[in-house]
Amino acid sequence: MRLVFLGAPGVGKGTQAELIASRFRHPRISTGDILREAIRSKTAMGLQAKAYMDRGQLVPDEVVVGIVKDKLAEPACADGFLLDGFPRTVHQAERLTDLLNSRKERLDRVVNVSVPRDEVVRRLSGRRSCPTCQAVYHVDFSPPQRAGRCDRCGNELMQRSDDQRETVEARLSVYDAQTAPLVQYYRERGLLSDLDGSGRVEEVQERLVKLLAEHGVA
Ligand code: AP5
Repeated sequence: MRLVFLGAPGVGKGTQAELIASRFRHPRISTGDILREAIRSKTAMGLQAKAYMDRGQLVPDEVVVGIVKDKLAEPACADGFLLDGFPRTVHQAERLTDLLNSRKERLDRVVNVSVPRDEVVRRLSGRRSCPTCQAVYHVDFSPPQRAGRCDRCGNELMQRSDDQRETVEARLSVYDAQTAPLVQYYRERGLLSDLDGSGRVEEVQERLVKLLAEHGVA
């Protein structure tokens, strides 16, 4: 199973990718999570990425392509992987194709998740995540058992700095300008499947599993 999860910020692609990853036992590669971890660890890459992420801008292509290249080289990715938040530009998509060609592999499907914009804003404004294990919650839609604490590791939940209103607006504009063209790009290549991300997490997951089965992916 080699999948890409595409979609605007906050549509729920990370939530769905995580569920598919544990259901089918394939690694989920989230470039956003890897970059946030690099920022926390204060690596050179993290320091470079932070300035872009704080403004809601994309991190330069060569940085994220390097991340994905290293991840795909790990043995865990030999039998499949789920890319969440990558590629995000046509250039990244082309580099991904080159990478896969060099491994004699190809993508099975690109899942394009969408929900109305007002729902995206509701999802992002209520998102809380664990800075330690990166588990994701929502204050209304998927609250932790103990308010403000991670169910998995007990640490205090935080609001992502790029989920502030002004940064969300910038991220949505960047999505429209730089990432949305990938929908057409992958549609033309016969790889795109649209997934309605509305409704409860479980409902969306059910729709997604059905969609993958219809394409012989799961
Ligand atoms: P990244 O971390 O990838 O953020 P994003 O793409 O903006 O996506 P999000 O994580 O915000 O949303 P999501 O769709 O995964 O939603 P989630 O499942 O969490 O990237 C952050 C930054 O890193 C970028 O801005 C950029 O700077 C940089 N970056 C990353 N990749 C890059 C790349 N390839 N190139 C260049 N730069 C890159 O859900 C959101 C909320 O909704 C949660 O609270 C969740 O609990 C809730 N929720 C989920 N599903 C449902 C549902 N069905 N009903 C109700 N609530 C739901």
